[in-house]
Amino acid sequence: MSKLQVIFGSTRPTRSADLVVPWVVTRASAHGGFDVEVIDLRDWPLPFFAEHLGTIGDFSDPTYSEPIVKAWNKKIKEADAYIVVTPEYNHSLPAVLKNAIDSVFLSFGLRNKPIAAVGYSAGIGAGIRAIEHLAHVAIEAEAVPLRNSVVIPFVATAFDEDGEPLDPAANVSLDVMLDDLAWWSPALEAARGAGELIPGAFRARAAMAAAQAAGNVETSA
Ligand SMILES: Cc1cc2nc3c(=O)[nH]c(=O)nc-3n(C[C@H](O)[C@H](O)[C@H](O)COP(=O)(O)O)c2cc1C
Repeated sequence: MSKLQVIFGSTRPTRSADLVVPWVVTRASAHGGFDVEVIDLRDWPLPFFAEHLGTIGDFSDPTYSEPIVKAWNKKIKEADAYIVVTPEYNHSLPAVLKNAIDSVFLSFGLRNKPIAAVGYSAGIGAGIRAIEHLAHVAIEAEAVPLRNSVVIPFVATAFDEDGEPLDPAANVSLDVMLDDLAWWSPALEAARGAGELIPGAFRARAAMAAAQAAGNVETSA
């Protein structure tokens, strides 16, 4: 069964995320394709990203600047698939969430794994722009962002007292997204198991170094 992490994108007191995440977790657990773990960034008070060569140490087992960063990298690497539940802050994802993704550094924990998004906001925007930005960030983390997502506008009034969404389209879109995740997750797990390419940035650097050593590339002073 795929290990799915559902990640809170907001940590602030009074967050509306507490309306959305339980619904996502309940439905993901009922789907049958996932072993679901909730990742609350409140439990992960990561420092603002500040890793550099001096904090990494051994590249194959980086030290990082603080033990929590190392633990965070280990935690993210455990999963096969992710759902990020993100509000929209200034037309993007919250800084705390971006920082958490930036902090997955050199461990390539998200690499070649599917990542899906549930967006929400206080107004009509529904987190769409946060989802779009998240997809761009996910590509650079070498994750596989999924096309189908879930959007919840007017989040404060979107759920009934039982935590069920009032708009039936919410359940439909979440189920479509979960089905996609359940397809992608084992497919990519098998592909990873069959062998992964060395990350492109490393391959490019090695190719440039080889070209320079062969005298095929001019080095700038
Ligand atoms: C710093 C900040 C920026 C926001 N920017 C947007 C925005 O660009 N678009 C939008 O629709 N809502 C915006 N909102 C409203 C949030 O969508 C709304 O407050 C939501 O409940 C935030 O999620 P949270 O309560 O789980 O943190 C913003 C809220 C905050 C606190």
